[in-house]
Amino acid sequence: MEEKAKSKPTLRVRADKVKDFRCKNLIAVIENPDDIRNIGTIIRNVNALGVEKAYVITDQKALPDEWEEMRTKPKLSAISASAIKWSFVKKFKDTESCLAHLEKNGFVSVVTSPHMKGYHNAVLHEHDYTSYKKLAVWFGNEGIGISQTALARSVLCINIPMYGIIESLNLGTASGIVLYEITKQRREFQFKLKQKISANKAVKRLVESLQPRPPAQ
Ligand SMILES: C[S@@+](CC[C@H](N)C(=O)[O-])C[C@H]1O[C@@H](n2cnc3c(N)ncnc32)[C@H](O)[C@@H]1O
Repeated sequence: MEEKAKSKPTLRVRADKVKDFRCKNLIAVIENPDDIRNIGTIIRNVNALGVEKAYVITDQKALPDEWEEMRTKPKLSAISASAIKWSFVKKFKDTESCLAHLEKNGFVSVVTSPHMKGYHNAVLHEHDYTSYKKLAVWFGNEGIGISQTALARSVLCINIPMYGIIESLNLGTASGIVLYEITKQRREFQFKLKQKISANKAVKRLVESLQPRPPAQ
């Protein structure tokens, strides 16, 4: 019994184990969500799929200003299945301040919409998301969708093809589908890059070891 309890890894051990699978420089942005449950769902998706961070644009008091405080809120913890404790969340008061922060830090934005709203549009699974070094993926409000401001400052508008009668997917559901495809691509790319770097290092070490050494005195 005691043995069994000992062999169960703690959450910290698990968090360290999955660290390498997390997609670096990938942020999910939720713009003015009305329903706190959708914030919880997206944070859960962010954590489960290995997105680095979540940014939330909201003036809702239900979401505290600082992550340290968000982590202590039982309701947020419950709706995100505790993911809020493990994935970093930053709150912004408006779209402009979020865009300014992202752009200052070299992030490129892409928005998501059920409609082809952008100057450049792409079907989710037909696009390559590995060419952007730092990427922010935006999700819009449940009713009005993504804002014109975010759309105008984005390089792409992504859509999940819809084959039913309903105009759009639920915000939380759409985030899961979009982030699955983007993290899958970026994680593969990240692993291949890591392998290439360690192979190059090994070759360098081998070449160095083959260099003639001065004779011992
Ligand atoms: C309920 S939808 C908003 C619908 C709104 N009437 C519109 O025109 O965008 C909420 C958010 O979920 C995402 N979304 C929903 N369906 C989508 C789809 N088919 N493709 C891409 N994103 C979608 C978008 O981020 C959207 O802003």
